[in-house]
Amino acid sequence: MTPILATSNIHKAREFKKIFRDAGIALKHVSLKTIEIQSERLEDIAVFSSLQAFEAVGRPVFVEDAGLFIESLDGFPGPYSSYVYRTIGLEGVLRLVGDDREARFVSVISYYDGRTSPHIFRGEVHGRIAERPRGRYGFGFDPIFIPEGSDKTFAEMSRGIKTGKSHRGLAARRFIAWLRGQG
Ligand code: IMP
Repeated sequence: MTPILATSNIHKAREFKKIFRDAGIALKHVSLKTIEIQSERLEDIAVFSSLQAFEAVGRPVFVEDAGLFIESLDGFPGPYSSYVYRTIGLEGVLRLVGDDREARFVSVISYYDGRTSPHIFRGEVHGRIAERPRGRYGFGFDPIFIPEGSDKTFAEMSRGIKTGKSHRGLAARRFIAWLRGQG
């Protein structure tokens, strides 16, 4: 069975396609914008989106909700990451961050097949906020996020290198392992 991803974010779709291709699985992408509920938990947002996506697609489908959590800002912007990116942007976030630059990126996948309740897969990567934006790859907060164990921002890494380390890669590989277990 070919898994189906619903997202209106082309960058996410490309990253998921790369991760699945690396695992030897073809992925179908449906461009779909779901209504994002407001919640402090990415899990709630992802589950709700996956129910909507299933209604729209009519077949088992998965969605992902992700966020950047800055520790010194009590996890801000977290579930509000896309709004914050569109409004104050990278420069705005850099102005808010002080000396403690610790942060983490979280990805939550919700897969819904219309039968059981949605299945959740989570990936989290720790790192820090860069002093200034660096790199030209990726999207969103990639130019200001440096994953633990690296000197480069996500935006300075090719798609393959980023997905090897990223929150999305971790969540997706957990999902793939589960799919394999389903036969
Ligand atoms: P969404 O609500 O899951 O679409 O993602 C929230 C926002 O977080 C996006 O609009 C991006 O700005 C940011 N974001 C999510 N994942 C990533 C990533 O892998 N790199 C950089 N920014 C990301």
